[in-house]
Amino acid sequence: MINYVDRIADLIAPQVEGLEKEEIRSMIETPADSKMGDYAFPCFKLAKILRKAPPMIAKGIAEAIGDDAMFEKVEQVNAYVNMFLKKDAFAKEVVSEVVAAGDDYGKCSLGEGKTVIVEYSSPNIAKPFHIGHIRSTVIGASIAKIYDNLGFKVVRINHLGDYGTQFGKMIVAYRRWGNKQDVIDAPIKTLLSYYTKFHVEAENDPTLEDEARATFTKLENGEPEEQALWQWFRDESLKEFSRVYDMLGITYDSYAGESFYSDKMPRFVKELEEKGLLEEDNGAQLVRLDDYGLTPALITKSDGSTLYITRDIAAAVYRKETYDFYKNIYVVASQQNLHFQQWIQILELMGYDWARSCIHVPFGLVSLEDGTMSTREGRVVFLEDVLNGAVDKTREIIKEKNPDADAETVEDIAKAVGIGAVVFNELSNYRIKDYVFSWEHVLNFEGETGPYVQYTHARACSILRNAGDDVVAKAKAGFDAKYLTGESAHELSRLLYELPEVIVEAGEKYEPSIVTRHIVDIAQAFNKFYHDEHILVDNEDEKIAKVAMVLAAKSAIRNGLDLLCLKAPEKM
Ligand code: ARG
Repeated sequence: MINYVDRIADLIAPQVEGLEKEEIRSMIETPADSKMGDYAFPCFKLAKILRKAPPMIAKGIAEAIGDDAMFEKVEQVNAYVNMFLKKDAFAKEVVSEVVAAGDDYGKCSLGEGKTVIVEYSSPNIAKPFHIGHIRSTVIGASIAKIYDNLGFKVVRINHLGDYGTQFGKMIVAYRRWGNKQDVIDAPIKTLLSYYTKFHVEAENDPTLEDEARATFTKLENGEPEEQALWQWFRDESLKEFSRVYDMLGITYDSYAGESFYSDKMPRFVKELEEKGLLEEDNGAQLVRLDDYGLTPALITKSDGSTLYITRDIAAAVYRKETYDFYKNIYVVASQQNLHFQQWIQILELMGYDWARSCIHVPFGLVSLEDGTMSTREGRVVFLEDVLNGAVDKTREIIKEKNPDADAETVEDIAKAVGIGAVVFNELSNYRIKDYVFSWEHVLNFEGETGPYVQYTHARACSILRNAGDDVVAKAKAGFDAKYLTGESAHELSRLLYELPEVIVEAGEKYEPSIVTRHIVDIAQAFNKFYHDEHILVDNEDEKIAKVAMVLAAKSAIRNGLDLLCLKAPEKM
């Protein structure tokens, strides 16, 4: 694809001596309103260098470059040079490129030879997989797809919370009050109820806590009975999590969670000690971080047991040694900001020069309309219930509109659209923003939503079906772009052209919502094009050109939806 900014910078460079081409590039703007041109160059900054008034400079540049074959016209407006590309040539360039790339449009090889780890979801065993976890799960899965798309080798890791003293409590509670079948039937709800009961009973019977500690020590020492129970809790919980991952179409390369590092920590405790970073405090060991404005980080407790951060230190080094990552990305709630600041600082103090390649990607809090979620008070919304609720509602809508549709098709579409609605909603906001979960909002399919974009894609597919294979084949072979110069066609071309840059930006900022917004823009521009222009017209050449445009829009939307982990059904 032609890099227009590059070509424009080449044209402008000889006109403004004293400015590097790179700087000129960075000054070129894309006006939001295409009435101001496809590109604009502001001349304010040049006044000092050229000792002339900015409008004069703009006028000079506009005159000097206006005849280039790339432009339809170049205008000076105040201090700006506004450049309008030749619409047919631009449409030809963009649409042919997108049609040729097909559903791969937007992929590139930026990351070739580099490995990026994306850690996401990472729920805790035997704890609810609730609506709060959807953020890490969905944002992380999308970031992983975006990096894939940029040509990186991506390793997806689920750092399960499957270790810690709470498992001692859980085992004690299960032995006292547990029932095997209940756990099998509803593992997480059941295990959670034991855990809650443990805390209630322990109020009156402090020996329970001692028993739990002793049990955890047995587990750490690998005693077979404790080990087997823990393994069973883990397996059952994972089955439940996997149901949700399957619904979302999410996969992992590794489930190495906290327990995986249990035998790898002594090396790091020793290393911290040797590097003079540990300080003793009543039998516990900690790293002081006062010099960095951070509170001390506890590495081992007085009974010798390790902590969350100790396991994260081990995990980072293990990942570097195993995958030699270029970046190691952690998609974890902003509540853990302090933890990740301490942890990166410690890695740096340990002398690991790759410490800053470890990146915490935080996101805001989800609360419920009646307050924040509380596992202990039973105020949680289970993610699985939300997904099922969305599928149920979608099924109802489809059946209402389409009473004769066959059951299997209805089911497939209900899943793709219902789950897609939840995911898309999640990826529409800047990740750092807090938000309040509302059933009404998630299940509202009007406006800038996943179903709207999916529906637009299905509409494009339906136009292509009506056009027929023959016309589609001809459109792929070539077309006359003079039919793609209307305002809405041009706007759509512009958005299609920008998609690859948008994906790069989303990757650099770890911000899938940038892709979400752009895909909504493309869908809206496509619907405007569809509204403004007749596509399947009698004139064969015109029809072929417009079908090429539809093909291009369809591919761009499809790839965009895929980056957001949404399916793109061909019929809806
Ligand atoms: N299990 C933790 C939780 O649910 C999240 C783990 C985040 N990852 C990490 N490497 N510390 O809060």
